Amino acid sequence: MKSQSSCSAPAKIILFGEHFVVYGNPAILAAVDRRITVTAKKTGSSIRIKSEIAEGEFSGDSFSGSKESEQILRPLYVSVQSVLSEKTGIEFDIKSDIPHGIGLGSSAASCVAIVAATCMLYARPEKQFVCDKAIDAERLIHKNSSGADCYISTFGGLMYYSKSEGFSRIKSDSEIHIVIADTGIKHSTGDLVQSVSRLKQKDEAGFAGLMDEARNICSKARSAIESANVSELGKLMNENQKLLARIGVSHKIADRLIDVSLKNGALGAKITGAGGGGAVIALASDRRASSEIAVAIQKSGYSAFEAAIDRNGLVL
Ligand code: MEV
Repeated sequence: MKSQSSCSAPAKIILFGEHFVVYGNPAILAAVDRRITVTAKKTGSSIRIKSEIAEGEFSGDSFSGSKESEQILRPLYVSVQSVLSEKTGIEFDIKSDIPHGIGLGSSAASCVAIVAATCMLYARPEKQFVCDKAIDAERLIHKNSSGADCYISTFGGLMYYSKSEGFSRIKSDSEIHIVIADTGIKHSTGDLVQSVSRLKQKDEAGFAGLMDEARNICSKARSAIESANVSELGKLMNENQKLLARIGVSHKIADRLIDVSLKNGALGAKITGAGGGGAVIALASDRRASSEIAVAIQKSGYSAFEAAIDRNGLVL
């Protein structure tokens, strides 16, 4: 038994298939090299959680802190309770270099890292156990979560995922050069998933057609990654973006950043994750190209950074 532990989990991007994955289609996800680190210290009798965006204290069912903080922290608290077998107080300190609320999986990474840090006070947990508990917590944030974000954050690398078949690792040794741009528009994943669900209910047949197209893109993308065909991969990202625009989850600033990326050498670009603003990803042919794309986006007034695939996932 330890009195202190520290665990970290990476951000994620969805390369292909977001939203359609909620209805059973495949998606391709990658963990990227930005992390959330949670330090847990046994102390006192309550559960205190402090991050850069929220802070508060849970005692039984009561919470002291702001309403906004409670909304962010309660799922984390529930996930801690689900793995805590003794009555003890814990102070959690969350440090993050993942931009929050723009589709890079910061809430999933927080759930993964806080569950892991709690478990590590007692014994080294299996990654799958941590992942399952984190998915339960994510479902308190948005109940239709596919679970994909927690999985990729736990296991790292590049994954092909569908609800019915689960995850399979995509073998790719070659580097994938990605630029991540921030539209500055925060979104609610739950609200966007709801809006797509309403669209689907209005036109089931039309949506089924889009599902077919998205499935086809995803399967071609898997082959393009495995054969390191980056120009094909870029084209497929552009096709995927057209589908996302059709289901109403793009945004005019995202469209602008996609345009800047493509005009400055990107092989393909799209929103990633829930959309409605959030983050845009652009694919570059090499490091020099990715640096030029990032600079062009910054010159247009938005923040952007280069990212590499994280192969580690959760670090215990
Ligand atoms: C959010 O990062 C991805 C969505 O497909 C929702 C989900 O898979 O849970 C929009």
